[in-house]
Amino acid sequence: MNSPSPLLGTLRKIVGNAHVLTQGDLSAWEMDWRKRERGHALAVVRPGSTQEVAGVVKACAAARVGIVPQGGNTGMVVGSTPDASGTQVLLSLTRMNHVRALDAANLTVTVDAGCVLQAVQKVCEQAGFLYPLSLGSEGSCTIGGNLGSNAGGTQVVRYGNTRELCLGLEVVTAQGEIWDGLTGLRKDNTGYDLRHLMIGSEGTLGVITAATMKLYPLPVAQLTAFAAVPSLEAAVQLLGLAQQHLSSGLTGFEVMGQFALSLVSKHFPQLRIPFQDTDVPYCVVLENSDQESESHARERFEHLLEMAMEAGCVSDAVVAENFGQAHQLWHIRESIPLAQAQEGINIKHDISIAVSRIPAFVHETDALLAAAYPGARLVNYGHLGDGNLHYNVQAPEGADGEAFLRDQEKGVNTIVFGQVDAYRGSISAEHGIGSLKRDKLEQHKSPVALEMMRAIKRALDPQGIMNPGRMIRDNAAP
Ligand code: FAD
Ligand code: MLT
Ligand code: ZN
Repeated sequence: MNSPSPLLGTLRKIVGNAHVLTQGDLSAWEMDWRKRERGHALAVVRPGSTQEVAGVVKACAAARVGIVPQGGNTGMVVGSTPDASGTQVLLSLTRMNHVRALDAANLTVTVDAGCVLQAVQKVCEQAGFLYPLSLGSEGSCTIGGNLGSNAGGTQVVRYGNTRELCLGLEVVTAQGEIWDGLTGLRKDNTGYDLRHLMIGSEGTLGVITAATMKLYPLPVAQLTAFAAVPSLEAAVQLLGLAQQHLSSGLTGFEVMGQFALSLVSKHFPQLRIPFQDTDVPYCVVLENSDQESESHARERFEHLLEMAMEAGCVSDAVVAENFGQAHQLWHIRESIPLAQAQEGINIKHDISIAVSRIPAFVHETDALLAAAYPGARLVNYGHLGDGNLHYNVQAPEGADGEAFLRDQEKGVNTIVFGQVDAYRGSISAEHGIGSLKRDKLEQHKSPVALEMMRAIKRALDPQGIMNPGRMIRDNAAP
């Protein structure tokens, strides 16, 4: 590899001195959100335009220096921070944060990749439209990061993952060329769909610099309920009833185990959590969006909950009376990852299983873990409507979390992922692979699929400079 100094000079010429950082506290860019790893970058480079991104990539390609694209750095799998070598350029997209266009008739918005998700939601709402992607990290994650990781979140049951929301991309390739695919077309069968190759590629194939995303009409009314359910089987039954009776009005369906809720209660005592003094094992947050009226929405929602109570799959429920109360109920759900982080480092899982098989999976896996790790605490919650659970394992009460992680992560993962394989599930439903799950991917994906992935990587990034070592092992990487 060439000496980095001439490269730094070139990068400074491209983006300006102020936007090439090599000194001071760079931890915001170098440390991952969960504080699992601290890397060290050659430089943090903050381009302000697509042309500048192209210039930076060309310069790095010429010097054969690895590039790590980064948005809000809220990813869960250590994929957006540099490794410890001090040789990689951390490419932060956050200066590229303009909404380029909103096309009301086409129901699309075109934004720079560094736009923060919440800012995009707000701009669209002010224009009378819904941009439906919704994540607990929406105040800091970016559209580029959402696309890079194909993020899911809490509205997937109705609107799909980020992939389903994307109608076009602008990308800087690993050679520093600009591909303008911002067509906004809903139909385009002109060969391989390069957009879908880039989405979910976690920065390993190119840099997304802008995107055209789908919009929806704002719902006329939106109601949220918090329901106590007697079992996971009951939660799945409730999901079926909700899908049948609300149809596309069902826009959120999240499950939360009692222990997960108790952590929220412990670390955020100001949040009032319904049914905490009872012994219900699970609660569900469900949301009904309606295009007719508030009273229509309430009538349908209350009818659903009455039916569910009669069927025995809901033991108690509260329906938010207004937007503020709904926000509070969602806030409880969204606080679980934060409460868990406060409780201490944990073994996080992001698995998907066919919804119908989730109760059996959880019962069996709970029993296997309890036998192997007595006292280990299961923080089980997630997007049940999508068959996606965050089936996390926390050290026993009072035990050293770091030591538990160091000594037991491998064994815990062997049990959990073994079960995921047995149930034909996925070891990563929405968070991606990054460096944290790269070796797991090799163990759990078929050799044929892995070879196709490597062939794509070799074809689009023959030097292996894009997010080296993330997602798949790559012999060409610098
Ligand atoms: P980063 O973390 O910066 O990057 C993520 C990946 O994308 C990296 O591999 C990076 O290299 C790549 N990347 C970033 N920008 C680009 C670009 N412009 N071009 C190419 N590649 C790029 N995730 C979910 O799916 N569902 C959830 O419900 C959810 N909830 C969360 C709640 C909390 C509290 C937190 C902290 C995280 C949550 N996440 C969730 C994870 C994370 O927020 C999402 O994955 C998010 O999409 C990451 O966006 P980001 O801008 O922070 O990306
Ligand atoms: C969530 O659903 O809350 C997110 O995916 C984040 C997490 O699991 O920590
Ligand atoms: Zn999630």
